[in-house]
Amino acid sequence: MPARSVPSSVHPDIERVLLDESAIKARIKELGRQISQDYAGRKLTLVGILKGSIVFMGDLMRSIAAECTIDFMAVSSYDGVSSTGVVRLNLDLRESAEGKDLLIVEDVVDTGLTLHYLLDNLRSRNPRSVEVCALLDKPDCRKAQVRAKYVGFSIPNEFVVGFGLDYNELYRNLPYVGILKKEKQAS
Ligand code: IMP
Repeated sequence: MPARSVPSSVHPDIERVLLDESAIKARIKELGRQISQDYAGRKLTLVGILKGSIVFMGDLMRSIAAECTIDFMAVSSYDGVSSTGVVRLNLDLRESAEGKDLLIVEDVVDTGLTLHYLLDNLRSRNPRSVEVCALLDKPDCRKAQVRAKYVGFSIPNEFVVGFGLDYNELYRNLPYVGILKKEKQAS
């Protein structure tokens, strides 16, 4: 069978590739190993936060050996490149969270406002535990005190796209994480 063909060139709207595909995939495998150890013998529910987590979620769940189910929530707080600060729940879990070991799977923690909202919301449903696994963390941008137990990469305060992350719904399909050129950011 021929090798899968992937675009090798960098998208013209990208200033610089921050994390290439092989580095991301290797790190996700490490996260999967860590999570598998921590949840060995337990049943885990991965809560993917749409839409930014989908690529990460797909790779992460295949790296987890512990028994797991998946569910999704969708929230919005972003307008272009900036957080509005008001988090809205657009889609809720299909299953009850009561008594479950939940692991929120996020693309990036930026101000932390989204995660703060999600943690409050999910803790109020009496789960057995709630933890967070984020592909990216921008620790310099915090407005709410939240911490992800599992983090793929800490990155500087730059607006990044790719590997599921978007700017106005574009660039989610890029196989790497790259900094979007300033002239492509409207605000
Ligand atoms: P927070 O509430 O500011 O922590 O932002 C969380 C959400 O904002 C993430 O789940 C992303 O959807 C979005 N976001 C934050 N920073 C970026 C970025 O650099 N690129 C794309 N989306 C981002």
